Amino acid sequence: MINIALPKGRLGERVYAAFEKAGFACPSIKENNRKLIFENAESGVRYFWVKPSDVSIYVERGAADIGVCGKDILEEYAPDVYELLDLKTGVCRMAVAAKKGFYDDGERTLKVATKFVRVAKRFYAQKGRDIDVIKLNGSIEIAPILGLSDVIVDIVETGTTLKENDLEVVETVFPISARLIANKAAFKFNTAEIERLLAGVKKLLEETGDSL
Ligand code: PRP
Repeated sequence: MINIALPKGRLGERVYAAFEKAGFACPSIKENNRKLIFENAESGVRYFWVKPSDVSIYVERGAADIGVCGKDILEEYAPDVYELLDLKTGVCRMAVAAKKGFYDDGERTLKVATKFVRVAKRFYAQKGRDIDVIKLNGSIEIAPILGLSDVIVDIVETGTTLKENDLEVVETVFPISARLIANKAAFKFNTAEIERLLAGVKKLLEETGDSL
């Protein structure tokens, strides 16, 4: 039985559809209920719906054998897992943004609001720029508007949230997409099954021109 942690939401549903096509179906997952665990003994899979930012925790600790999470989470938490495949979906970017026209003259410590503290610290350390990190848990875009911070480091997908709050991207930190990850020990024990899933998904990516 392979245990698979999927991120709750549209991305997870899209990934499930791909896994189903790759031969890892679990029809009960489509029942419209509040259950979080679904199993199909025939195809040897058990799926869990978990909070997207928690997938790597389940996989790292072996509660799930494989899972799907964003590159943002891998960069921030650096879980000890194998990153097996770029699923080329859930595409967005980590970016620095600020109020329109903001210019960093470098003369004082830069105030940076973010959910991604390690990403922000690493990014500015590489530039040798002193920062004061303000950890927030959501609605990061409000911080520069209220003067809580000079800039934010956050995920930008369509850019709508920035635009509607009169902010703009200053620079891109790194591109993001969903990744298939595996628990290291589980990969050793279930190599054949995980490789079979991997091959099925890779084939699908080829057939669809990278759009799951
Ligand atoms: C994310 C991110 C931005 C928004 C970007 O927030 O933090 O706020 O999506 O998307 P866009 O460029 O398409 O507008 P999320 O919805 O995850 O909520 P959050 O406020 O809790 O971070």
